Amino acid sequence: MTARYPNTRMRRTRATAWSRTLHRETLITSADLIWPLFVTEGNGAEEPIASLPGVSRWCVDGIVARAKEAVALGIPVIALFPNTQADRRSDDGAEALNPDNLMCRAIRAVKDACGEDIGVLTDVALDPYTAHGQDGLLDDKGYVTNDDTVAVLVDQAINQAEAGADIIAPSDMMDGRIHAIRMALEMGGHHNVQIMSYAAKYASAFYGPFRDAVGSGGLLKGDKKSYQMDPANTDEALREVELDIAEGADSVMVKPGLAYLDIIYRVKERFGVPVFAYQVSGEYAMIEAAQAAGIGDRDALMMEKLLSFKRAGCSGILTYHAPVAARLLNG
Ligand code: PBG
Repeated sequence: MTARYPNTRMRRTRATAWSRTLHRETLITSADLIWPLFVTEGNGAEEPIASLPGVSRWCVDGIVARAKEAVALGIPVIALFPNTQADRRSDDGAEALNPDNLMCRAIRAVKDACGEDIGVLTDVALDPYTAHGQDGLLDDKGYVTNDDTVAVLVDQAINQAEAGADIIAPSDMMDGRIHAIRMALEMGGHHNVQIMSYAAKYASAFYGPFRDAVGSGGLLKGDKKSYQMDPANTDEALREVELDIAEGADSVMVKPGLAYLDIIYRVKERFGVPVFAYQVSGEYAMIEAAQAAGIGDRDALMMEKLLSFKRAGCSGILTYHAPVAARLLNG
């Protein structure tokens, strides 16, 4: 191949808008978006979250309204996270197993209202329910136990599936939980309930606003480094993904997003499975802060970042910008 100037001028295809459209390699549409939503108690309640400008917690009715909005915008999935009342949090996170907890009420309400028009993804981990803000059960030294925690997570997942969850998304990073949850789902007759595993989830500084949103931030002492991954590691992420696929995950997630595009790319290249990125709360808040500080255009920053996930190989992106991005994409 001889591709030499001036026979080849790379700028030729960039010269006009129609030509740039024609040559665009990566497309993003509202169908690529998963919208994370925070649920709170109370009737008619909408509670704005200070550290996540533009994002609120909604009561169950409000969540149903958001789900209908998502359907209208062509967003295929919403992800639910509860802000559990303080007096329902305990050391063992038992509220996670209550069939009438906030999460289950929200799942049922959305499924009753929207049926198969939307998928409901539910987070499996104990942090919205524990008094200490960790994702699992603590031993007497404060270490998050693995196998005892997995047993509870299995019950939490079944509780969500019974309420009507379509995708179970374990975000806890315990070992062996995908296999245990898959077995329990199969035995419970939930053959078509999917598992999207938070397979490569890093111990990140970008989760701060989320912890405010679910009310675990003030409770959490220490960090989550004994179960979430070291941001320095790549090979370990590939092993995590390999294990979760072998254990029965239908799709895998890399989290956070933007600082881990190399992981997304390598997971997709190596395993060829559906990969999702979670553009987490801190990433969202940084874009909003840039806009507020007048150092960047929010819509342009948002679209460029979302596109980068698709380019890296993602099937879709969990993002708090989902409704804003969908409106923009739908024109
Ligand atoms: C809970 C969970 C977290 C997020 C999703 N599920 C926080 C954490 O692990 O502390 C973070 C999402 C975000 O920051 O937007 N296990």
